[in-house]
This record gives sequence, C-alpha cells and structure tokens, in this order.
Amino acid sequence: GAERTLVLVKPDGVQRRLVGEVLARIERKGLSLAALQLRTIDAELAKRHYAEHEGKPFFGDLVEFITSGPLVVAVVQGPRAIAAFRQLAGGTDPVEKATPGTIRGDFGLETQYNLVHGSDSAESAAREIELWFGSK
Ligand code: CMP
Repeated sequence: GAERTLVLVKPDGVQRRLVGEVLARIERKGLSLAALQLRTIDAELAKRHYAEHEGKPFFGDLVEFITSGPLVVAVVQGPRAIAAFRQLAGGTDPVEKATPGTIRGDFGLETQYNLVHGSDSAESAAREIELWFGSK
C-alpha cells in the first residue's frame, strides 16, 4: 500500500494503557506499522504539530496536555491509510461525533482527551511525518 499517515496515541491513551488496543485495531484493519516510537515531546514540537490551531481557545491546554507525558508516534501505511485510520479513530468529539466501534467512541469522553491523532490529508501526513521523523 502506497499511502502513509502519522498516528499518535496521545498521553491519555498511554496513561490508560490503550496502546496495545489502538495498535491492534490498526493491524486488524490491515494497515502496517512503518515506524513506531514512545516519546515525550517538548512545547516546540507540540506547537509545530498543532500550528493550524494556534490562536484557538484550547491551544494552550492542548500543548500542555500533549507534552504532559509519553505518547506513541507511528507511521501507519496501507491503501487509503489516511482515511482508514480516521475511520478507526472516529470523530474528534468522542461523544457527539465518534460512534461506538471507533477508538474514540469506545474509549473517549472529552474532546481534549480523545486518545489518538491521525493526519487529516495527504499534505498534513507529509508535513507531520517529516516533522516527527525527518532528519531535522
Ligand atoms: P486532534 O485530532 O489531535 O486535533 C486537534 C486536537 O485539539 C483535537 O484532536 C483535540 O485533542 C483538541 N481539540 C479540538 N477541539 C477542541 C475543543 N473544542 N476543546 C478542547 N480540545 C479540542
């Protein structure tokens, strides 16, 4: 499969020991892991990753949360990997948008603590993979 997407299991997912659950769902879907790391990131990387949300009311809390502890970052690969992972994740709001059967719908309650991130487009995936795994 040609397409690649950047996936995070955010600090809430790691803290709640849902890493295996998330990776199992990715693998059962038929997607592959092309890269996988456990990392704790600083505010600089967090702000670059979430640059499109700068200025929004939740931005400060989001940066604080995403830097609060270890997270898992993966490059996930397969046919239509970007859309396929977003289908697995469910909508951003775990109650109002994500449906049961999705990661957020099954395990989430609050929008900030929505367990996972997946790139939202091919452009975002390329940017995010370079940001997290590039040489610089
Ligand atoms: P994610 O898909 O990683 O993209 C941006 C993140 O910001 C989102 O998941 C949530 O964790 C967070 N977020 C988005 N909207 C809100 C909101 N209204 N309140 C709090 N956090 C939000």
